[in-house]
Amino acid sequence: MEKITSLAKRRGFVFQSSEIYGGQNGAWDYGPLGIELKNRIAGAWWKEMTRLHDNIVGLDAAILMHPRTWEASGHIENFTDPLVDCKKCKTRFRADMIPEENLASKKCPECGGELTDTRKFNLMFKTHIGPAEDTANVIYLRPETAQGIYVNYKNIIQSNRMKIPFGIAQIGKAFRNEIVTKNFIFRTCEFEQMEMQYFVKPGTDEEAFNDWKAQRWAYYEKLGVKMDHLRWHQHGADELAHYAKDAYDIQYLFPMGWRELEGVHNRTNYDLTRHSEFSGKDMQYIDQDNNERYIPYIIETSAGLTRNVLMILCDAYDEEKVADKGNDDDWRTVLRFHPDLAPVTVAVLPLMKKDGLAELAQDIRGELKEDYSTDYDQSGAIGRRYRRQDEAGTPFCVTVDYQSKEDGTITLRFRDSMEQVRVPRAELAARLRSEIKSYKRVK
Ligand code: GAP
Repeated sequence: MEKITSLAKRRGFVFQSSEIYGGQNGAWDYGPLGIELKNRIAGAWWKEMTRLHDNIVGLDAAILMHPRTWEASGHIENFTDPLVDCKKCKTRFRADMIPEENLASKKCPECGGELTDTRKFNLMFKTHIGPAEDTANVIYLRPETAQGIYVNYKNIIQSNRMKIPFGIAQIGKAFRNEIVTKNFIFRTCEFEQMEMQYFVKPGTDEEAFNDWKAQRWAYYEKLGVKMDHLRWHQHGADELAHYAKDAYDIQYLFPMGWRELEGVHNRTNYDLTRHSEFSGKDMQYIDQDNNERYIPYIIETSAGLTRNVLMILCDAYDEEKVADKGNDDDWRTVLRFHPDLAPVTVAVLPLMKKDGLAELAQDIRGELKEDYSTDYDQSGAIGRRYRRQDEAGTPFCVTVDYQSKEDGTITLRFRDSMEQVRVPRAELAARLRSEIKSYKRVK
C-alpha cells in the first residue's frame, strides 16, 4: 500500500487533503490523473447501469435531506459503531477492531492504559442549517446516497412512467464520521458511492437478488479486474444491516487483505414502509395492469466509487523486470489499467523537438483529442518517457520520428507488451479503436 500511496502522490492521482496544514484525516484530493481515473470508473458504472439497462434511470439527489429522512431510515437509531477510549493515551478505537482480550481486560492495545466502557457512536455528521445553531436546525450529511432515491421513487414513477421491475441509479458523495481511517482512500469520512436501487414485486426479490449478484460479478470481469482477487462474503446475522434480509459483499484482495468493495443487499420493503410511516405519504406501487397495490421490495447494489479507485490502482499496479543491466532501469513500474479506465489513453511523443517533429506530433495529438484523452511529452530520452507513461498507466504511445515525416507512418507502442509496430498515420485512429475494443488483460 505504501508504494501505491507514494506513486499516487508522485504522479498526481491522490493528494492528502489540506496537506500544507498537516493534512485532514479521512479526506483526500484527487489530482489530474486521479480525477480522470475516478470519472472513468464512474462512467463505466453509469454506462453499465443506465445505458445498458432499459429499465434503469439516473438521479442526482441533494446531499442535504430533511432530517426526518434519517429517523425513518433508522440511521439516527442504528447507524452506530461501538467505541472505546483509552483514558491514558486518549486513543479512540472501534471496539470490534481490537483484540477481544483487550476488550475483556479493558486494557489499551497501544499503551496498556485503562479503556472506557463501550459506547455507541453515531457515524452521521451533524451540522446546522440557517443562522441559529439550535436543535430545531440540525441537519445531517447523508451517510449513503440510497435515501435520496427512496424519497424520489414516486416522482420517478410518475415523471418517467416506470413499471416494476425498474431501477434508479445514482453516484454521489456520502459522509461518515469514521473512527478508523487508515489504508489510504479505503475508508474515509468523505467518499463517493455508486448505488442502484432495484424495485421489485415482493416474492420476486430473491430471484432479482441472485440476478444482480451475477451481474455485478460479470461487471468486474468486463473491467479486466483479476478475478482471483475477488470473492463473495455473505453477511452473518451479526453483520446484517438493520434493513437487510440478505446481503453479500464482493470483497477484493487489497494489500492489507480481503476487504469489502461492494455490497448487494436485499433491503425488503423496509425503507419505503418507514418513509410511508414517517411522511404520511402512500408509498405503494399501483400495478394497473394486474389491479394490485404493494410496497415494492428493493435490491440494492452499493459500490464505493473512491474504494473502486483504490481497487483499480491496486489491481493495475505491477513491477516488472525488463532488462538485466544491474541498475534501476532494469525495472519498470506499470499500471495495467483497462484502456477504458486509463486516465490518459494515448501519449504522443516526438523523438526530437526539432526538425518539425514536435509540430507533427502536436498535429497528430490534435487529431486524436476529440476521441481520446491524450498527453504530449517531448522532454528526455524516449525510454524515460515510455517509463513515465507506463507509471501513469497510459496504454498506448505514439512516437513521431524522421521516418514519419517521410512516409507518414508512426510507431505505436503498447504499454503491456512494450511491443512497437509501425502504423500509417491515416490508420491510427481506427487501430486504436480496435485495440481498445479487443483489449484483454494478459498480466
Ligand atoms: N446503501 C448501502 C450502504 O451504504 P455500505 O456497505 O455501508 O452500504 C456501501 O456501503 C459501499 O460504500 C461499501 O461497499 C464501500 O465500497 C463504500 N463505503 C462505505 N463506507 C465507506 C467509507 N467510509 N469510505 C469509503 N468507502 C466507503
